[in-house]
Amino acid sequence: MNNLRSISQIIEPQTAIEGAGVKLRRSIAPRASNEYDPFLLFDHFAFNDPIEGPIRGFPMHPHRGIETVTYMLTGSTHHRDSLGNAGLIGPGDVQWMTSGRGILHEEMPRRGPEGTIYGFQLWVNLPSHLKMTEPRYQEVSAATIPAYEKDGVRIRVVAGKVEGVAGPVAEIAASPLYLDLQLAPDHEWTQPIPGGHTALAYVFEGEGVFSGETIEAVKLLKFTDGDHIHIRTENKPVRFMLMAGAPFREPIVPYGPFVMNTLEEIKQTLAELRNGTFIK
Ligand code: FE2
Repeated sequence: MNNLRSISQIIEPQTAIEGAGVKLRRSIAPRASNEYDPFLLFDHFAFNDPIEGPIRGFPMHPHRGIETVTYMLTGSTHHRDSLGNAGLIGPGDVQWMTSGRGILHEEMPRRGPEGTIYGFQLWVNLPSHLKMTEPRYQEVSAATIPAYEKDGVRIRVVAGKVEGVAGPVAEIAASPLYLDLQLAPDHEWTQPIPGGHTALAYVFEGEGVFSGETIEAVKLLKFTDGDHIHIRTENKPVRFMLMAGAPFREPIVPYGPFVMNTLEEIKQTLAELRNGTFIK
């Protein structure tokens, strides 16, 4: 590895209101420019102010053409869908949902014992030949997500591989790496990332030096191409989500919870919702 990826973009998350009035921190959202290909959206749930009142969540809504990845740290999300699935995504759990041709689902976050909710939702694109695939879930409980640990470094591996530790989420078109990394003060870590893959880091706690640049939480970073990134801590710890994946390099047409390749496909989706044939 001799090609360090440097930071090409630093994004400040913006407050957004989604679902039935849920306040969240949004870093990226689907756009036709597709500059984070294969990633489409990154939201951070952190409803920790009692003033926000009851949590209204995300009532029944459709998805087509994407994968939604929910990773909870504190609190939980109750999930229910049109295929008859239901369950609770608890602290440390991951749900990797491949919507394919279509699902209707409800996502209701619940506060943890301390009254807080903390988690992330990532949207990953599907290539054109898989946009209308069968919907599929990979439900991963906290206990089955392995961690790579060495002095001062802890990495939970959701998808991809770190030093021989493989994440449980498999067979995803974007060949993703999805990691939750924590470094104690005064430590460092070099993470290999395949050349040509898009790499993003969501720094949500503490402060670290990313490929030579000091970054304080909360920020989303995009990296240039290369074969690795380097993270170093000084007097503070850092925690961040790292996502990397192979871009599909296809045109996209996003429309709310749908991301297709053409406007025709979006029109078709809306027509199916109207005439009741969206769920096959
Ligand atoms: Fe959803």
